[in-house]
Amino acid sequence: MKLIFLGAPGAGKGTQAEFVCKELSIPAISTGAIIRAALKNQTELGKKAESYMKSGALVPDEVVIEIIKERLSEDDCKNGFLLDGFPRTVVQAEALEGMGIEIDRVVNIVLGDDVIIDRLTNRRVCEGCGATYHLISLPSKDNVHCDKCGKKLILRKDDEPETVVNRLKIYHEQTQPLEDFYAKKNKLINIDGKRELKAVTADILAALKG
Ligand code: AP5
Ligand code: MG
Repeated sequence: MKLIFLGAPGAGKGTQAEFVCKELSIPAISTGAIIRAALKNQTELGKKAESYMKSGALVPDEVVIEIIKERLSEDDCKNGFLLDGFPRTVVQAEALEGMGIEIDRVVNIVLGDDVIIDRLTNRRVCEGCGATYHLISLPSKDNVHCDKCGKKLILRKDDEPETVVNRLKIYHEQTQPLEDFYAKKNKLINIDGKRELKAVTADILAALKG
């Protein structure tokens, strides 16, 4: 199955991608995670993306389109994949079509802006492996270290409140039009992202089977 997860920053795309991909045995591909890794390793891509990401702006279309093209050509994508955080603009969605890729479903995790600040300010990510936690709804054993690799948990730089406001604005302006784009193609499934984690996962899996 070839899937896209759409939704505002903090809607739960990454968290649900992990659960759903385990269930469906497909790889989860997060452009955000790929760019963060490049930034950490100070590769050419990381250097190019740094200033955009820090301010909460989108990295230029041509850069992310190239990242996805390369990633989707890898062997593990042959039997399907889940895209978390791509496409983010209509230009990116059209580029995906231009690659000859037929997406089966687009899962739109719907969450009001009021909840997003709580989700992101309470989110902690592992500085080692990038695993994601939430201080209240998905805590690690001690809320300080990662359960998976033992490294320290930190606040993502773009989760500072001022940057979150900018990310939300950009989401409404540039990414939300994709709801219409995919609804017109009868691919959009809206999922209530405000419910507890397991309920959201169950809703997504049920909708994909239906
Ligand atoms: P990216 O990393 O994709 O960030 P984002 O879209 O802003 O989304 P987040 O990762 O913040 O949220 P999420 O929906 O994954 O939520 P999560 O599951 O963590 O992109 C970062 C940056 O990279 C962009 O700003 C841009 O610069 C660049 N970029 C990436 N892709 C790009 C593209 N295609 N084009 C251009 N630029 C691009 O959940 C949030 C928190 O809530 C967690 O703590 C989680 O545990 C908790 N939580 C989740 N669900 C629930 C629930 N149901 N109940 C309670 N808590 C929950
Ligand atoms: Mg994410």
